[in-house]
Amino acid sequence: MKGKIVLITGATSGIGKETARALAQLGAKIVITTRDARSGEQTKQELIQSTKNDNIDVLFCDLSSFISIRECCNEFLKRYSSLHVLINNAGIVEYHRRESKDGIENTFAVNYLAPFLMTNLLLDILKKSAPSRIINLTSGLHSGTIHFDDLGFNHGFSGMKVYGHSKLAIILFTRLLADQLKGTGVTVNCANPGMSATNLSRDAGWFSAKIFKLLAKEASIGAQTPIYLASSSEVETISGEYFEKKAAKTTNKETYDMDAAKKLWEISKKYVGL
Ligand SMILES: NC(=O)c1ccc[n+]([C@@H]2O[C@H](COP(=O)([O-])OP(=O)(O)OC[C@H]3O[C@@H](n4cnc5c(N)ncnc54)[C@H](OP(=O)(O)O)[C@@H]3O)[C@@H](O)[C@H]2O)c1
Repeated sequence: MKGKIVLITGATSGIGKETARALAQLGAKIVITTRDARSGEQTKQELIQSTKNDNIDVLFCDLSSFISIRECCNEFLKRYSSLHVLINNAGIVEYHRRESKDGIENTFAVNYLAPFLMTNLLLDILKKSAPSRIINLTSGLHSGTIHFDDLGFNHGFSGMKVYGHSKLAIILFTRLLADQLKGTGVTVNCANPGMSATNLSRDAGWFSAKIFKLLAKEASIGAQTPIYLASSSEVETISGEYFEKKAAKTTNKETYDMDAAKKLWEISKKYVGL
């Protein structure tokens, strides 16, 4: 990975931090995003210490704000002239309905609209830097169909339902984007890290969060699939796939519904102002 520039969202904890650590160990220049300057700086120092790679940079980005995402991408483009790997890693599970800075249901905003906007804003530099890769974190809990009549779950909100919905949306986005990127040298795939002991369950209450952490595997194991997709020559030309345990996997038929993917894309453009 020497000479490669990697941008990872949400690398201050969990799978993102372990992905950043492994790719830094492989010699990449790592740019992490954080919504908290102090935690970003701490993560940077920890990564430098553990990898002996001091090529680590931090950018501020609150993924629940479209303005913040735009400012972050502008700052990235000011500082760098290439981007070889974009990892849309950051994600949340929220058990109470909250809204983003833009007034959108927060799980849909952070887990899906944020990567949609960030990826679109960085597509030109990814194309210019080809061969390059985009990795979108999804989950085995992706489920159902896209709720076109109530994307913000104003009715029937449940934390796991909106989480599964946001992760279905990111798979549809990945498959459609892969079609659009054919011939550009930019690939895009989804990674399901599997149940990993991270801070993802922080909103679930003390007891459930504890049980989750007991049952889950270490974050460094969950990070293996994103690391593989970011660095392995085996997947250099593979695009539009869903990966689990470093292998492409067939998923349920709703994740291949290209009509739904196109409709969602058009609605998403309006949401984020593209
Ligand atoms: N853990 C699992 O079992 C599991 C399973 C399947 C899929 N995944 C997926 O893996 C990805 C990584 O999750 P994780 O398990 O590593 O969770 P995590 O430990 O909670 O890490 C999530 C990261 O996202 C950041 N983040 C959250 N909201 C943000 C916002 N509004 N703006 C900017 N950054 C924000 C967090 O920043 P702060 O540190 O500031 O909170 C943190 O760095 C997610 O997409 C998740 O859905 C996880």
